[in-house]
Amino acid sequence: MSVLKIDFSKSGVSLTDALKAEAAKANALLHSGEGAGNDFLGWVALPSSMGEAELASVEECARRLRSRADVVVCIGIGGSYLGARAVLEALGNPFEHLRPQHDNPTVIFAGQNISEDYTYQLLDALRERSIAVIVISKSGTTTEPAIAFRIFKEEIERRYGKDEARHRIAAVTDSARGALKTLADREGYATFVIPDDVGGRFSVLTPVGLLPLAVAGVDIRALVHGAREAESDTACDKGPDNNPAALYAMVRNALYREGRKIEILGSYEPALQYINEWWKQLYGESEGKEGKGIFPASVTLTADLHSMGQYIQEGERTLFETVISVASPVHELRIGTDSDNLDGLNYLSGKRLSEVNRMAEIGVCLAHVDGGVPNIRIEIERIDARTVGYLLYFFEKACGISGYMSGVNPFNQPGVEAYKKNMFALLEKPGYEEAARAVKARLEKE
Ligand code: PA5
Repeated sequence: MSVLKIDFSKSGVSLTDALKAEAAKANALLHSGEGAGNDFLGWVALPSSMGEAELASVEECARRLRSRADVVVCIGIGGSYLGARAVLEALGNPFEHLRPQHDNPTVIFAGQNISEDYTYQLLDALRERSIAVIVISKSGTTTEPAIAFRIFKEEIERRYGKDEARHRIAAVTDSARGALKTLADREGYATFVIPDDVGGRFSVLTPVGLLPLAVAGVDIRALVHGAREAESDTACDKGPDNNPAALYAMVRNALYREGRKIEILGSYEPALQYINEWWKQLYGESEGKEGKGIFPASVTLTADLHSMGQYIQEGERTLFETVISVASPVHELRIGTDSDNLDGLNYLSGKRLSEVNRMAEIGVCLAHVDGGVPNIRIEIERIDARTVGYLLYFFEKACGISGYMSGVNPFNQPGVEAYKKNMFALLEKPGYEEAARAVKARLEKE
C-alpha cells in the first residue's frame, strides 16, 4: 500500500469539480509561489532539497552531544518545540526511563513554558546527570526559551566551565539576526540555520526537529525519506483525486462550509498524542484568522472516550472527526486464558490487543457517524520514522492547500503578538513605557 491512505467514505462529502479545481489551484499556488505569504514557502521543497552535507553535519553535532551528556535539554517553544517532541513521542519508548540501561541520551524539553516549578524541578532532577543543551529560536528573541536558556547556560558554565560549555551547547536560529545568533557567534557554539523562508510551524524537517531527534537516536534519514515520498505524492502534477493532501484539504473545507467548525484529530495509539499537539499548532496558527478557521481539537483513544466520548456522541453537532488509523502495531501481545474467568474475558483469549483496539476503532466510528459526526480516516501501515516523516509533510502540504482554499494567508500569525505586548508592558520591558502606563491604568480601573 502507499504509505498513507485517506478514506472519507464516512464523511458525507462528495467531491465536486468546483472543489477539485479550488484544491488544484491552491496546490499550484504553493508551487508557483504566487499566493499570499509566498516568502514562507521554503518548506514545500525542503525534503527533496535537503543535501547530504546538511544531514551529515546534524548527525555529527548529535554524536558530539551524545558523547558528552546523558540528558540533553532541548529549549524552544511553538514551532521550535512541538515538531521534535511529536516525533520523539511517536517513535520513542515511553518507558525508556524505567530500563536499567539506556542506549540513547534522554531528550527533555524546556522553555515551552515560564513555570518556575517546572524549571526548578527539571534543574533539580538533573543535578547528578551529565547535561548538554540545544537552544532553538528562529527570532532568537522569544521570551520563554530565552529565559530557560539563560538558566541552563549558567548551569552548564558553572558545572563545566566556559570552554567545555561551548561543546555542550548547540543553537538553531536565524542565519544572521537575533540575540541568540549574536550570543552563539560570540560564545562559539555549533550553530544551525532555520531558513528565512521556513516558518516555525513548518520547520520540523530542518535542524529545528532533526538535531534533537538525531540526539535521541531517531533515524533522521528515514524520516526525511518518508517526507520526500510525501512531497512526491502531493506534487503539483498530481490531480486532486490522487493527491492525499488535496483530498484531506477538500473534505475538511467542504465540512467547514457545511457548519462543521471543529475538527477533532484522534488516534488509538497514545504514541501519536504529540503529533496531535503539533497538528493543532500547524492548523490553528495557519487557518485561525480573519474571524474564520476550523478549530483544531484532539483526543487520544480509547482513553478520551471515557471523558470526551459523551460530547462527541451527543453534544453540539458542529464537529467532525479525523482519525489517524495505524494498521499494524510494531510489537505483539496476546490476551491469555484464565481458568476461573472471573473477569469474563475468556471470549478474548488468544486475541492480540491490536484486534481489540481495531474493533474499538470500527465500533466508535460507526457510533459517531450514527450520532452525526462525519469521519475522515487517515490510514498508515505502522508508526516508524519513514511513515512519521510522510505524515508530517502530508499534514503540512494539506495545511497549505486548505489555508489557500479558505482564503487566508496560512503562513503568518499576526494574532500571537497581542499577548506579548501586554506581558512586556506589565514586565516594564524597555521600549514599552507607554504601553506599561496604559495597561496599569486599565487594570486599576477594572
Ligand atoms: O510557528 C511559529 O512561528 C511560532 O510558533 C514560533 O515557532 C514560536 O513562537 C517560537 O518562535 P521562535 O522560534 O522565534 O522562538
